[in-house]
Amino acid sequence: MKSELTNGSGISNKIALLLVEGARVPVRKRSTDDWIEGEIVAKRPLENGKQEFYIHYIDYNKRLDEWVSDDQLDVNKIKLPQTKNSRPVSPTAMLNKVSRKRKIEDTNGYSSSHSANSDTDDSPTIVPPIVPAGPPSTGSLSQNQNTYDGLTRIKNVQQIEMGKARMTPWYFSPYPQELCNLPVIYICEFCLKYLKSSNCLKRHKLKCKLYHPPGNEIYRKNNISVFEIDGRKNKNYAQNLCLLAKLFLDHKTLYYDTDPFLFYVMTEYDQFGLHMVGYFSKEKESSEDYNVACILTLPCHQKKGYGRLLIEFSYLLSQVEGKLGSPEKPLSDLGLLSYRSYWSNAVLEALIQYLDSPTESPPSLTILELCDRLCMKKEDVISTLQHLNLIHYYKGQYIICLSNEIIDQHRKSMFRRKVRIDEKYLQWQPKDWSKRGKW
Ligand SMILES: *[C@@H]1O[C@H](CO)[C@@H](O)[C@H](O)[C@H]1NC(C)=O
Ligand SMILES: [Zn+2]
Repeated sequence: MKSELTNGSGISNKIALLLVEGARVPVRKRSTDDWIEGEIVAKRPLENGKQEFYIHYIDYNKRLDEWVSDDQLDVNKIKLPQTKNSRPVSPTAMLNKVSRKRKIEDTNGYSSSHSANSDTDDSPTIVPPIVPAGPPSTGSLSQNQNTYDGLTRIKNVQQIEMGKARMTPWYFSPYPQELCNLPVIYICEFCLKYLKSSNCLKRHKLKCKLYHPPGNEIYRKNNISVFEIDGRKNKNYAQNLCLLAKLFLDHKTLYYDTDPFLFYVMTEYDQFGLHMVGYFSKEKESSEDYNVACILTLPCHQKKGYGRLLIEFSYLLSQVEGKLGSPEKPLSDLGLLSYRSYWSNAVLEALIQYLDSPTESPPSLTILELCDRLCMKKEDVISTLQHLNLIHYYKGQYIICLSNEIIDQHRKSMFRRKVRIDEKYLQWQPKDWSKRGKW
């Protein structure tokens, strides 16, 4: 009965034809052995005649996207792509269409005897292109389709080596194509120049001589420093930083026009130099008073509190500028987590400080006063109070209620946070960029 040809991989040709871009299929993740619904973003042939599939896991962040082999797919549960103007296509209808097409194209004994269901309706069901060009018109990734073409949905850099760390990128970044074919791109950890081999990097280091980022060191306390870098004056560095950051940021699109931005790079000092742990960028002039455009802690330095430290630093700059700041949206999933944590701590700290020495009785602190103390925009303060469930409606007005439990929790969490930004160690004057005409 089973007379289908196989394509050398154990998957029948018919099924292989169903595995089109945009189709959904359960995928066994190699790292966890879990079955997760995935969407096929692309496929490519392997030398052994098999195919590999680039999978986006539905409802998971794109950084988990990966190439998988066909034996990780549950091919009995393929869902074909839907397009805007059509009903879902049943695999049977799809197979019939495909087999009709194949009968014409392929005289090499392809058997369609299995597609016994011959009542193919003639409604305009789509046959998705077998070798599609461009992004599929469907799927959970559509939010990026305006700014990203099909290619940029697929991670292109295998690994980077930077200082002592090897890192596996999370997203596409437009490094030169010839470097993307290499197993590792070597990055000078101080000037961020990218090189194709460790030998090239060694030769580069003889000339480079840098042991810290360029720009001005505007903050130093213990082993933490922050450098301010002008995207116009240090264009090469700024562009290299953007390329590097894009590997770990999904929605960032700035690579080349760095002139309107300042970059704040945080470093950790050891005997070999001042090593970048993360950075944020900021527009020189922001009509919305955004105090952060992009923010990133390098993956090799995550979970050490640097994300919070960078955020704290960005609000310190806003404080010196006398402005209420807020990060540019959208925030990444990890970015939002860091901000939620920073905002919660900051708001609670301000409330507790105020309660310890209230200026009025009964204590009364308006949202606007809270914004001023924290240099935070009103919508961020309100969303934080709501998130912490501190706002209550009482006798016709909104009041903030702090339970002892919440205060205790906060004190414990602040006790764990030993490293903080200390404004005494900032040496910085804001510039009025609007007065300079062109930066
Ligand atoms: C930096 O200092 C902190 C303590 O202040 C320490 O825990 C950390 O290990 C130091 N980092 C390096 C690279 O020396
Ligand atoms: Zn260098």
